[in-house]
Amino acid sequence: MRIVLAIVIFLCLLAASPPLRGQETGDFIKLGQEKFNDTCAACHRTNGEGLPDKFPALKGNPFVLGDPAPVVGTVLNGRQGRLGLMPAWKDTFNDREVAAIVSYVRQAWGNQAPPVAPAWVARIRGK
Ligand code: HEC
Repeated sequence: MRIVLAIVIFLCLLAASPPLRGQETGDFIKLGQEKFNDTCAACHRTNGEGLPDKFPALKGNPFVLGDPAPVVGTVLNGRQGRLGLMPAWKDTFNDREVAAIVSYVRQAWGNQAPPVAPAWVARIRGK
């Protein structure tokens, strides 16, 4: 249900704001790719495969492909888990950047999950 809601919100956003149309949608994912490669790839690697027993693979990862809310939450707030510390990024990236990064990891390396809209990241950040 939440995924459907996310898609609807994203599509409304696409329709409502010309800057995210057509070529711009590609630029949005490209922004996510750039930020990912600059920051996240240090651990999760540019191929999204991570490192065994250290950094989880994001490629083909059901958590990444599932409900986007906990994915956005993990990127914003980080997590101390079984493998170690995932740093928090809420002070590093704005809503558009977090949305672009999460949209990128949901669509890179053969992953196929709907993108996430910046307005939606703002809502999760506000919780
Ligand atoms: C310093 C290393 C490091 C960096 C940099 C890093 N992560 Fe992580 N990430 C981790 C670790 C370690 C975990 C696993 C934490 C745990 O044990 O639950 C993790 C977990 C995750 C998860 C959850 C995966 C799952 O299966 O539960 C996602 C999604 C994620 N990272 C995305 C990102 C994104 C996007 C970025 C860049 C903004 C990023 N990470 C940067 C170390 C890192």
